[in-house]
Amino acid sequence: MSENVTVPVHVTIIMDGNGRWARQRGGERLMGHRNGVKSVRESCEFAVEKGIKYLSLYAFSEENWSRPKEEVEGLMALMVKSVLEERETFRKNNIRFRVIGHRERLSPELLEKIDEAQAETAGNTGLTLIVMLSYSGKWDLVNAASRYAADACEAVRRGETPPQLDEALFSSYLCTAGIPDPDLLIRTSGEQRISNYMLWQCAYTEFYFTDVLWPDFRKSDFADALDAFSKRDRRYGKIK
Ligand code: FPP
Repeated sequence: MSENVTVPVHVTIIMDGNGRWARQRGGERLMGHRNGVKSVRESCEFAVEKGIKYLSLYAFSEENWSRPKEEVEGLMALMVKSVLEERETFRKNNIRFRVIGHRERLSPELLEKIDEAQAETAGNTGLTLIVMLSYSGKWDLVNAASRYAADACEAVRRGETPPQLDEALFSSYLCTAGIPDPDLLIRTSGEQRISNYMLWQCAYTEFYFTDVLWPDFRKSDFADALDAFSKRDRRYGKIK
């Protein structure tokens, strides 16, 4: 990695290619997901080393619920196991752990583990690791619009004028409220699309695509992404 790299505040990753990685080795798709956990750990370590403040990972989309039952159950069991096993890593590395997404669809067992890990790490001040679970961009937008509408109706019911909706207020209704928008989005496995992910939040995010399959994604691949990010000229629609 170059010496003068610009470190993004928030990096988000679409972890893709677990199934293909397993197939190449003649294994079950879950074998790919299990090996993907190693890349999650290594990416967290790298983010801590580089002083990245937020690392968010697209672990399971709303659409992923329609995968075969066996894969969904295996992935959820892997989440429970990972949250339990990584608590010590979070403690040692001052990592704040958060899970964002459609909580109502998660099992009580997984929610319990998530809530414990979130409470235990709430005071940590280093990296914030955000796992996007049962999350989709369109779901987030519809959910935010419904919640604003409910609050506006409630205000009218009390005889008050509802607050004027602007970009900042709308952002506060998204489930990523309080988290800065991603500076850099990395997607592995050669696919070049956003797949219903953080549709509002990625308005000015820089995209980096790599052919590396997620279970093979190492610190050196993350470093390549930061190098590419450092060379981008971010103008936000303005002229420099
Ligand atoms: C996409 O690959 C990957 C997923 C849907 C799951 C990602 C989950 C993990 C890496 C498990 C651990 C996560 C945490 C945060 C502990 P794919 O199955 O779509 O692969 P394919 O496109 O090759 O079929």
